Amino acid sequence: MASNPKVVDVHTHVYPPQYVTILKSRSKVPYVRDTTPGQPSRLIILPGEDDPSSESTARGRPIGPEYYDINKKIEFMDTHGIDISVISLANPWLDFLDRDEARGLAMDVNDAINSMCEAHPGRLFAFGALPLSASSDVIVDEIHRLPTLKYTRGVIMGTSGLGKGLDDPELDPVYQALEEENMTIFLHPHYGLPKEVFGPRAAEYGHVLPLALGFPLETTIAVSRMILSGVFDRFPKLSVLLAHSGGTLPFLAGRLESCILHDAHYSGPEAKAESRRSVWDILKSNILLDAVVYSELGVRAAATASGADRVLFGTDHPFFPPLEAAKGEEEEQKWLSVTTNYKAIQDAFGPEKEQAEAVLGGNAIRLLRLTID
Ligand code: URA
Ligand code: ZN
Repeated sequence: MASNPKVVDVHTHVYPPQYVTILKSRSKVPYVRDTTPGQPSRLIILPGEDDPSSESTARGRPIGPEYYDINKKIEFMDTHGIDISVISLANPWLDFLDRDEARGLAMDVNDAINSMCEAHPGRLFAFGALPLSASSDVIVDEIHRLPTLKYTRGVIMGTSGLGKGLDDPELDPVYQALEEENMTIFLHPHYGLPKEVFGPRAAEYGHVLPLALGFPLETTIAVSRMILSGVFDRFPKLSVLLAHSGGTLPFLAGRLESCILHDAHYSGPEAKAESRRSVWDILKSNILLDAVVYSELGVRAAATASGADRVLFGTDHPFFPPLEAAKGEEEEQKWLSVTTNYKAIQDAFGPEKEQAEAVLGGNAIRLLRLTID
């Protein structure tokens, strides 16, 4: 008898306790701020979230044990029918650390996250974090250590790289080490867009503009810069999982490719003769897209751009919990953010049940090698 297809969540975050301790010891972003007695502490992580002139919901979010207690993750998985989660440190990762602290904390965090997986064998795998404020030798050493962590299958990374973005040639040794160790980059936004683009009334709209638009556009720009600078030409086996279904890359890939073909820098007589892989080729062989896009249309776009065999279910837990006002009597309530993504996958593939099952879990198991011996 065929076993039940597994559901795998590739986009799900945790802050290990030692990271929370650091956040609690800080008074500038990122930090945890105790507010009124009796009220939960607030997690302030996004740029600009700390602006005292704003008293809107844009001032952080409540932080409870679902952010750092791995048992809460398992409870959430059980409630939502998730068999396996690939857990990753949440933003802003280790980006803000001083050069001399980055190495030690990266090792501690990667060990701690791997130990969480060890405590729940078969249910948890991990993306590690890199000490990106350290020297590239230190970063490369940590990448070469990751295969000793039994459950680690890649690294979560923001868009800043070593400080100059992901098209920085100084990242080449990092990409080379990741390619060699077969570690997928989970590329995740954090910095958004400059706040000016959202206008003077932005705070009246809570987190909506930075999260709904700033995050996906940040990812789109970062991966486009990787493509334009030839990262995937130099590292043709590099694997990059893009958060939020690639931002807007599936929708804009044709325009990106067309602009390249019409730009003398790439295609005119004075262009360099080096061969260039097309955006479509890269989408279909280097890019994986999560399915955290909350609509059938978005899932279809992702599957059309990269192939239904390269789209992977995710939840973004513990972000986007149900709001207090929306909670019913029942404790074990399913999260709207999760059920919306389940439905989007079901609706996108309709009777093509095998494709839906692949997106829900089979693709992740195959592409991220989620088996243990
Ligand atoms: N907000 C964040 O800061 N990170 C996420 O992953 C999702 C929402
Ligand atoms: Zn996320």
